[in-house]
Amino acid sequence: MPESNNLQTINSWRTILSTATITATSLIVAGYTTYQLSKQYQKDKEIPTIKDGVEELIGNTPMVKIKSLSKATGMEIYAKMELCNPAGSAKDRVALNIIKTAESQGQLIRGQPGWVFEGTSGSTGISIAMICNSLGYRAHISLPDDTSLEKLSLLESLGATVNKVKPASIVDPDQYVNAAKKACDTLLKDHSGAKGVFADQFENEANWKVHYETTGPEIWKQMDGHIDAFIAGCGTGGTISGVSKYLKEAKNLHGKCHVVLADPQGSGFFNRINYGVMYDYVEKEGTRRRHQVDTIIEGIGLNRITKNFHLGESFIDESIRVIDKQAIRMAKYLSVNDGLFVGSSTAINAVAAVDLSRNLKPGSRIVIIACDSGSRHLSKFWKEARDVERDISLDKVMEA
Ligand SMILES: Cc1ncc(COP(=O)(O)O)c(C=O)c1O
Repeated sequence: MPESNNLQTINSWRTILSTATITATSLIVAGYTTYQLSKQYQKDKEIPTIKDGVEELIGNTPMVKIKSLSKATGMEIYAKMELCNPAGSAKDRVALNIIKTAESQGQLIRGQPGWVFEGTSGSTGISIAMICNSLGYRAHISLPDDTSLEKLSLLESLGATVNKVKPASIVDPDQYVNAAKKACDTLLKDHSGAKGVFADQFENEANWKVHYETTGPEIWKQMDGHIDAFIAGCGTGGTISGVSKYLKEAKNLHGKCHVVLADPQGSGFFNRINYGVMYDYVEKEGTRRRHQVDTIIEGIGLNRITKNFHLGESFIDESIRVIDKQAIRMAKYLSVNDGLFVGSSTAINAVAAVDLSRNLKPGSRIVIIACDSGSRHLSKFWKEARDVERDISLDKVMEA
């Protein structure tokens, strides 16, 4: 081959190579820029938009991995942070849905004065009071006169009308739930035309439905559809019924999600779920003791079947009993090892997760509900939990 032809070939190869290099570099730069832009777009999407009132802050709560328990058990254990709702608990969802349902039925009219009545010594009253303030309604909360000072103070700070009644059995017409219903009936019968609704969280179906429509789907999405077990306690039953119904239906696509009801000492759900008998099916709350469920844990545990529990009962596979001492130690363990400062029902769920992990395959993914923060429980539960030694081992936490 003549020398000039060789040179020509070398030159054309050079041209091809440099063109290829330029093209490859441009592609890499373009790809990287697109990647950076999409990362920025993703970040911007994660920045919450402006909300038109606190009620719009409800829901879409974060999911956090509990690193200490995951490492110790070989599982992946996550907490659905319901305590991040604006009034501090999962009850915000319920209170808002009860109010919206009442509005859809004409019991309340947005923009006109109206009252929401509830009998509660727990978080629901605080959620109702906060949302009523934002939507222009008034809250009327009946509660036992020995309710903890932090809850009373919160309700009063929110400007709710607080009706303190003597602790009594539910068969007593002056018991706080009955007192709330009576106060609502009185308002509706006084011919002033004033609007009002009795929230009735135990029986009102707006409760489980909101967990079915929001909490369940959020959990599903956050876990990319891979959840081996879900754990919650049961107060009214709204959370466990709504979420487990959703997960059981959604899980049909991928397999099974094992649903566990974490139950405190003294509550009847453990026997009801595992053996089919409540301690006494017809027994009414408070017929024999001031607190029928004899535990330091607040918000969960009951000895009667509520509508919200009943409607979701068939989706619950198992109940795990947790005693107060385990929950108290677990709360301190989570606080010290993970910076998670949680209330008593969350601690119960965490104990149940560790217990359950003994029967699951390594790497199984468990979600627990973190219903409220430890700050709601400073004067009772945390008074005991704060004295637990800082370096307590998980084995010691779990000791019965
Ligand atoms: C602190 C706390 N955790 C858990 C629950 C249980 O939720 P549910 O009523 O949906 O069963 C409640 C209910 O009042 C609660 O107050």
